[in-house]
Amino acid sequence: MQTTLAFDVYGTLIDTNGVVAALQKLISADAEKFSQTWRDKQLEYSFRRGLMQNYESFAVCTSQALDYTCTFHNVPLTAEQKAELLGIYRVLPAFSDVKEGLTRLKAVGFRLYAFSNGRADALEILLNNAGIRDLFLGVVSVDDIKSFKPNPGVYSHFLRHAKATGGDAWLISSNPFDVIGAISAGMKSAWVRRSPQAIFDPWGIDPTIAVENLLALGDRVIEYDRGQ
Ligand code: LAC
Repeated sequence: MQTTLAFDVYGTLIDTNGVVAALQKLISADAEKFSQTWRDKQLEYSFRRGLMQNYESFAVCTSQALDYTCTFHNVPLTAEQKAELLGIYRVLPAFSDVKEGLTRLKAVGFRLYAFSNGRADALEILLNNAGIRDLFLGVVSVDDIKSFKPNPGVYSHFLRHAKATGGDAWLISSNPFDVIGAISAGMKSAWVRRSPQAIFDPWGIDPTIAVENLLALGDRVIEYDRGQ
């Protein structure tokens, strides 16, 4: 059985802090803090919408989180400036290790998928723009079942779509909530610790493995699976 790797997109493959440079030109407030509030609120809105079963797309969560962030940081952006930022969000850059890392993993024979809260149309644009779309066998969106990570249903949806089972599939994510969600739903999961400051939630559910980037991922996955 070939091993399937499901890659989280925002924060794992794609750098959501890629908006900071644009923000620095638009606002006098601390652009990194603004970007962090925006990202945190975007995820909070997705969690809440999932719990409330009040689904709107991730793009709506992103846009409403931007409105909240402007108010919170007292940064009055015009509708055009918000549209500009949301436009940048649609074409954010990949982290520097991603293209090389995915290329190596594909060459070794892993089945690669992108698996995200984003809608498929948004993901196609994002991954094409980053020059990595063709490395994936498919793009799977939670939008298919109108819920968000870490609802266990979205991980089951991924496995069905990819014709894989939890035993032969890994979620690869920098987001601890996603790693814990996937392991709880029966998958294995690698935590990509993109910053030394990143903290893993102390829930007593550890990542199957932890890596700093995608370059050493293949060897670590093979080593783990061989030991099982
Ligand atoms: C995603 C969010 C969790 O891409 O970053 O699914």
